[in-house]
Amino acid sequence: MAADSCLNMLSVDLAGIKMKTPVMTASGTFGFGMEYSDFVDINKIGAVVVKGTTLTPRSGNSGVRIAETPAGMLNSIGLENPGVDEFLNHTLPALADYDVPVIVNIAGNTVEEYGELAKRLEVKGVAGLELNISCPNVKQGGIAFGTNCDSAASVVKMVKSSTSLPVIVKLSPNVTDIVEMAKAVEAAGADAIALINTLLGMAINIHTWQPVLGNVVGGLSGPAVKPVAVRMVWQVANAVKVPIVGMGGIMTAEDAVEFILAGASAVAVGTANFVNPHAAMEIADGIKDYLAKKGLSHVSQLVGQVKVGEK
Ligand SMILES: Cc1cc2nc3c(=O)[nH]c(=O)nc-3n(C[C@H](O)[C@H](O)[C@H](O)COP(=O)(O)O)c2cc1C
Repeated sequence: MAADSCLNMLSVDLAGIKMKTPVMTASGTFGFGMEYSDFVDINKIGAVVVKGTTLTPRSGNSGVRIAETPAGMLNSIGLENPGVDEFLNHTLPALADYDVPVIVNIAGNTVEEYGELAKRLEVKGVAGLELNISCPNVKQGGIAFGTNCDSAASVVKMVKSSTSLPVIVKLSPNVTDIVEMAKAVEAAGADAIALINTLLGMAINIHTWQPVLGNVVGGLSGPAVKPVAVRMVWQVANAVKVPIVGMGGIMTAEDAVEFILAGASAVAVGTANFVNPHAAMEIADGIKDYLAKKGLSHVSQLVGQVKVGEK
């Protein structure tokens, strides 16, 4: 099969963001992309979602910020990032060398900060925004917006009125009813929904009796969270019309196919990047092989095709 038709099998238009493959890198797990450019062909990634970006630089949380867990990891980075000015002045121009959509993950302490970030980022080279209203590792903002329907909706409305870029809203799994949250952000104007961010967790050192993480609690990611994420994608896909980006523990093409069958139009790879920086490309190749084996011509033929109630 010609290379072009292979790529066409995987091409996705996510709320106006044109991607060569449905496999993106998840925010916070792939830097700004170009850190990997010496050994990964970034042009083959569906989209690079950059590290959570804030109005002013943040140094993140102190103490231990990463801990390995069975089948996953806990992190409490606390949104360390150089701030939007540095991103616009240095990072974005460097990313212009690559033929890959850049989606900026933004986080604010207030609704107004989200609006300000959205305005500042409406520039050439930014393909879309991902609203992080789900970070469990910061004291102000973050998850506080993502666990209450009204607060989440007010952030989305503010951002939508501040930009014409496609807006992806990233939801937190740390809620009782994910469907209620998804419907609220869709009604507020979200162009797409990404889920899931990390699940709030904790680990204790039994020798010192102290929490392992400096921040005491952190976000759990990796294969351990995958069934929760697949369940949430399926529930949300049945309740909203906007496209979904599924993530949470995707390590292989088979994992990605599960998310797509559950209803995701695209997927993001996070923790897997720490084990294998080539994961996003290998997963895209594996999806292509899977489609060929099933006699399918395009990845969209898999979206939401899980057969519930059928034997
Ligand atoms: C070290 C680390 C940093 C992260 N930073 C961010 C971030 O800045 N913004 C965000 O929305 N999500 C962040 N996440 C969450 C991931 O983007 C993703 O939603 C989550 O890890 C689940 O996917 P995974 O199991 O494939 O890692 C981070 C995750 C990890 C592990």
